[in-house]
Amino acid sequence: MCVYFSYITKGCDPLIKYVINGGNPLHGEVSISGAKNAAVAIIPAALLVDGECRIENIPQISDVTLLLKILDQHGAGIKTVNRNTMDINCSSVSKIGTAFDLMRQIRASYYLVGAMLGRFGKAEVSMPGGCDLGVRPIDQHIKGFSAMGAEVEIKNGIICASVPSGRLHGAEVYLDVVSVGATINIMLAAVLAEGQTIIENAAREPHIVDVANFLNSMGADVRGAGTNVIKIRGVDKMSGGFYSIIPDQIEAGTYLAAVTAAGGEVLVKNVIPKHLDCITAKLIEMGVTIEDREDSILITRKSPLKKANIKTMPYPGFPTDMHPQVAVGLCLAKGISVVTEGVWDNRYRYVDELRRMGAKIQVDGKVAVIEGVQALTGAPVKACDLRAGAAMVIAGLCAAGQTEVEDVYHIERGYENFIGKLRGIGADIHSVRMPENADSEPLAI
Ligand code: EPU
Repeated sequence: MCVYFSYITKGCDPLIKYVINGGNPLHGEVSISGAKNAAVAIIPAALLVDGECRIENIPQISDVTLLLKILDQHGAGIKTVNRNTMDINCSSVSKIGTAFDLMRQIRASYYLVGAMLGRFGKAEVSMPGGCDLGVRPIDQHIKGFSAMGAEVEIKNGIICASVPSGRLHGAEVYLDVVSVGATINIMLAAVLAEGQTIIENAAREPHIVDVANFLNSMGADVRGAGTNVIKIRGVDKMSGGFYSIIPDQIEAGTYLAAVTAAGGEVLVKNVIPKHLDCITAKLIEMGVTIEDREDSILITRKSPLKKANIKTMPYPGFPTDMHPQVAVGLCLAKGISVVTEGVWDNRYRYVDELRRMGAKIQVDGKVAVIEGVQALTGAPVKACDLRAGAAMVIAGLCAAGQTEVEDVYHIERGYENFIGKLRGIGADIHSVRMPENADSEPLAI
């Protein structure tokens, strides 16, 4: 069994909660981990490689642990080189379609379909789980696989896909919606297919480029990632190699949003500033100062926050995964701000929680109108999903008094060492484990 699995994030325990004493501005330096949404695609992509992949800068988060467990259960060789580097060798993986319970817990398990179809011409994967952000269809993934010669059906909650001819063939796929998951999944399926696949109206997020770079470094031929047309020429074989995952755009954005809301001055290190332009442009409008350096960003907020309007869109638009965290700052900005969610149907579940802390927000469909208040006050709240959970922590950092955030297992799916990093920049935050017996005291951990 891989040593990595001895690391089980504390947040996977539903009895753990975060306790935050708010009101301190943030000061110091924080270093950003590898990108979650790249890692959760690159780990399944290792299935396509005949040989060992050394992958660096893997974030220690529970979504990654789950995917590694799934590969382990399928017979992959997984070795821990150091805290964030793993050697993954899937050469001996021969069977597909077990570990359904693990697959069901994570959204990114859908990448196993593309990778298994490419490698074996057959895949059986549970319908994906992940954050509840409204309807999360996978029709565009299926459209791509079908165009490449796969037969796909969903039976008893399992996606069953197979290629009657044994090997996928290249195809032209025009995505009806710009989808990160469908773009990556079709790319994974296409790298070992016969002939050329063209994905049009492809998503352009930094992690799409990262997955393409990983595949190319293992011998694939993917061109155009980062534009809306990606061309993949199928190769017969990919062999092992070395790859380092890019820094997490959304983790970095979350710390920038925290400083925006709570005030202070923080150097956010190990980032690609260009990837953050779509976020920092909005934070500057809200009144912070941003200084881009080579691989870090200095953020300073000394003056009161200004209102701003946000519309979330695929990259390079403002990312939906930054909407709740930045909304906290808008709750404290002078004036009325309007947030329009352009990607997900159900991203506003955090609003009721922020209202408990004194925020004034009205939601109508995909639009939220936020009227800035003088201060938020600490309260018991829930992390409704990953980014909503991060927003609750940010709200707790700004609020007067104590905030307790429950259901933090959502947060630990996507943020490495969230508490440690926040404490490193001066936040008063710790986790406690609630006793199973209601009469006992919580245990500090
Ligand atoms: N869509 C379809 N059909 C499809 C696929 C998507 O209609 O087959 C729609 C969705 O309903 C949504 C839009 O297209 O309205 C975009 O969905 P997308 O496929 O881009 O989302 P995803 O791949 O399921 C990834 C991230 C999400 C992030 C979105 C958007 C991973 C594992 N997840 O999801 O990240 O919100 O892209 O950028 O990469 C997070 O990290 O907190 C998170 C939720």
